[in-house]
Amino acid sequence: MAAPSRLLIRGGRVVNDDFSQVADVLLEDGVVRALGRDLLPPGGAPAGLRVLDAAGKLVLPGGIDTHTHLQFPFMGSRSSDDFHTGTKVKEEMKILTRDKGVNSFKMFMAYKDLYMLKDVELYTAFSQCKEIGAVAQVHAENGDLIAEGVKKMLSLGITGPEGHELCRPEAVEAEATLRAITIASAVNCPLYIVHVMSKSAAKVIADARRDGKVVYGEPIAASLGTDGTHYWNKEWHHAAHYVMGPPLRPDPSTPDFLMNLLANGDLTTTGTDHCTFNTCQKALGKDDFTKIPNGVNGVEDRMSVIWEKGVHNGKMDENQFVAVTSTNAAKIFNLYPRKGRIAVGSDADIVIWDPKATRTISAKTHHQAVNFNIFEGMVCHGVPLVTISRGKVVYEAGVFNVAAGDGRFIPRKPFAEYVYKRIQQRDQTCTPTPVEREPYKGEVVTLKARG
Ligand code: URP
Ligand code: ZN
Ligand code: ZN
Repeated sequence: MAAPSRLLIRGGRVVNDDFSQVADVLLEDGVVRALGRDLLPPGGAPAGLRVLDAAGKLVLPGGIDTHTHLQFPFMGSRSSDDFHTGTKVKEEMKILTRDKGVNSFKMFMAYKDLYMLKDVELYTAFSQCKEIGAVAQVHAENGDLIAEGVKKMLSLGITGPEGHELCRPEAVEAEATLRAITIASAVNCPLYIVHVMSKSAAKVIADARRDGKVVYGEPIAASLGTDGTHYWNKEWHHAAHYVMGPPLRPDPSTPDFLMNLLANGDLTTTGTDHCTFNTCQKALGKDDFTKIPNGVNGVEDRMSVIWEKGVHNGKMDENQFVAVTSTNAAKIFNLYPRKGRIAVGSDADIVIWDPKATRTISAKTHHQAVNFNIFEGMVCHGVPLVTISRGKVVYEAGVFNVAAGDGRFIPRKPFAEYVYKRIQQRDQTCTPTPVEREPYKGEVVTLKARG
């Protein structure tokens, strides 16, 4: 039987980033067609209309995970072109933005001799982003210091996963974060710092925003939900499962700190950096932490982890939850209000959310294609009951109804107003001008040519 083409979500509490209201939501042809009270006709649902009862539940805009790596050839599997530098790159960036709907580019300050860019290369890449109206993104870690730290740890006989954190401590992330902000500010280019993992780096971003810089910080489910004490676990495989870059931090107050900054707006979006490798792949580095493929899970866990640690713990309200899980991302990447909002005309990407139900995260029950879960055993309030993508129910009562290839790439336009309004105004009013002077008419010393 064909799925009904129209859905009515009835009596839920519709939550947007600015306010919540009890309302019905009518979905038709993949978009929100109507929003209001009592949308069900008095005679009941006509043929072709399915009614989903959401009384006592929340109706949220579908989450936007700002950062994933799916089918990513990385750390040994395949070498990569150096596509960042040179004029060819500049031209490719322009084509991608103009013709292919790509409006952000990630640059690496880490992974020396592979992806790492020098400062002048970052300057060039940021300048090009600014020119074409894209958002510059950086992986902020000092790759030179990491390379030296690796040598030091190996010389000390530290070959286990703890060496991964010890060779790239917080300061390595914070320094690169400040450097990226300084370079972007010199260019007047908007900057987006991916995977904010430490208190030090988050403080750098918060300070820069207070200083008026157009910079956004993205903590991830991992940095909000767990910490780097696991690298010291006695079980090698347990410790290795948490290896990612920048690393999780051994300071256990990190997740709460990052969540507070997310709640008050110092940090802006949330991703996962979902990049999974099974234990047997992690084991490539069983005798040398530098060979452990970097990456952790999160794509399935993000919403629940943030609800639990953010909303359930009283750090943020349901509206700020929507802001940091979808609305802010939609604004930065120029998808708003098509995405990140439940409003007439918006895409029908919706989650019916039970804020009171709980679930326990476990690799035994998750749907991620990885044999462990870094949030194993975490009890989370906030459970998705129904997930709707472009007007179609894709998850309900524990059952998925999706086929590979159902996803759609959405082209995004450059010069997102949310990001670029201030940038463009600054170009007009804050560009320095020379001081008008009478020419100097006095004596000028003559330099002698050296023999
Ligand atoms: O360890 C990580 N983060 N893996 C994915 C690649 C990256 O740098 O984002
Ligand atoms: Zn990265
Ligand atoms: Zn990443």
